[in-house]
Amino acid sequence: MGDLSWGIAGTGTIALVLGRQIQAEPGMRVAAVGSRTKERAQGIAAELGAGRGYGSYAEMIADPDVDVVYVATPPTQHRPIIELAAAAGKAVLCEKPFAADAESAAAMIETARAAGIFVMEAMWLRFDPLVRRLVDLVADGILGDVHSVHATFGRIIAPTPTERLWDASRGGGCLLDFAVYPLSLGQLVLGEPSRVRASGVMTDSGVDTEVGLLLDYPAGRRGLYEASMVSPLSNTAAVCGTVQRAELGAPLFLPPHLTVKAGHGSTATVYERGFEPNGYVGELREVVRCLDLGLTETPLMPLADTVSCLQVIDHVRRDLSGRVGNSSE
Ligand SMILES: NC(=O)c1ccc[n+]([C@@H]2O[C@H](COP(=O)([O-])OP(=O)(O)OC[C@H]3O[C@@H](n4cnc5c(N)ncnc54)[C@H](OP(=O)(O)O)[C@@H]3O)[C@@H](O)[C@H]2O)c1
Repeated sequence: MGDLSWGIAGTGTIALVLGRQIQAEPGMRVAAVGSRTKERAQGIAAELGAGRGYGSYAEMIADPDVDVVYVATPPTQHRPIIELAAAAGKAVLCEKPFAADAESAAAMIETARAAGIFVMEAMWLRFDPLVRRLVDLVADGILGDVHSVHATFGRIIAPTPTERLWDASRGGGCLLDFAVYPLSLGQLVLGEPSRVRASGVMTDSGVDTEVGLLLDYPAGRRGLYEASMVSPLSNTAAVCGTVQRAELGAPLFLPPHLTVKAGHGSTATVYERGFEPNGYVGELREVVRCLDLGLTETPLMPLADTVSCLQVIDHVRRDLSGRVGNSSE
C-alpha cells in the first residue's frame, strides 16, 4: 500500500492533535478536512498542510483521494458521518466514545459491517506500548492472579456556555469523555463485568459531572474507577495481582512509565516510555496494519468491547438521572 490518505471530519481540539500526528507519521498524510464551515475546514487544512478543506463532511468523504475517514466530532455526531463513509466504502477511525449510547454504536457497527468497511474506535489507551506491555505481564502471570484494577481520569472543565462537556445535547459529561478510559482498561484486563454499581452527580441539565464506579467481574474480581470534570484526579491506574502490582504513572493518557512491584520496600521494575510512540501513533499504525491485512476490525479494540463499554455507561447514566448525589446499582 502507498501513502495512506486521511480525511478529517471536524476541526476541534482532537482533530488538530491527531491531524498533526498523521502528518508526522511516515507513510500517511492528511488529504482533506471537512467541517460544517468551509472557512474552518480550509484554515485547519492549511495548518496541517492538507490539500483541501470542504464545507461539509459529505464532500470530504466523497474526495477520491481520501482512503480513511477520521471522525473527530462530538459523540452525538459520529453516526451520520460513519453512514456516509460506509456508503462511500471508506475505512473509518472514529473518536471515543464511539457513540453517545450503546444502541447507536451497535447500529453504526451494523452499517459498517453491511458495507464491509474497516471501522475502529480511536481508544488510544489500547495502543499505548506501555499498556500493551502491561497486558503481556498479566498474560504471562507476572502479577500473579489479577484481583482488581483501580483507575481514575479527571480534570477540571470550566462550565463556559460553549463547553461541549457541559452540554448534554453534544454528549457532555464525564462518563462518556473520561470514564471510558478506566472502563476500557478494566475491560482489557478483567473482561466483562457481572455487576455495576455507581455513585455520582448528575446536574439538572443531564450532565454527569463526577462518578465513582464499582464493577464486579467473574471470580470475585473488581474494578474501582473514578471520573470527574470538577476535580483534578490522579489520572493513574493500578492492576493488582496476588504476586505484584503494576502501576501506570500519570497522566494516564500518556503514562511516562509502568512500575511493577510486590509491595512497599520491595524492588520495583520500571519500564520507561523512552522513545516509544504514544497511543495516538499506535492507533494510526494499527489502522494501516489492519488495512494491509484486509481486516474490517482490529483485535486490539474489538467492536464488541466498544458496545459493551457503552452499555455500562448507559446503565450508570440511567440510574444517576434525577438522583443527584445518589448511588445506583
Ligand atoms: N482521543 C483523545 O485524546 C480525545 C481527546 C479529546 C476529545 N476526544 C473525543 O473526540 C471527539 C471530539 O472532541 P473535541 O474535544 O475535539 O471536541 P471539540 O473541540 O468540541 O470539536 C468538535 C468538532 O466537531 C464538529 N462538530 C460537528 N457537530 C458539532 C456540534 N453539534 N457541536 C460542536 N461541534 C460539532 C466541529 O467542527 P466543525 O464545525 O468544523 O465541523 C467541532 O470543531 C469527542 O468524541 C471526544 O470525546 C478524544
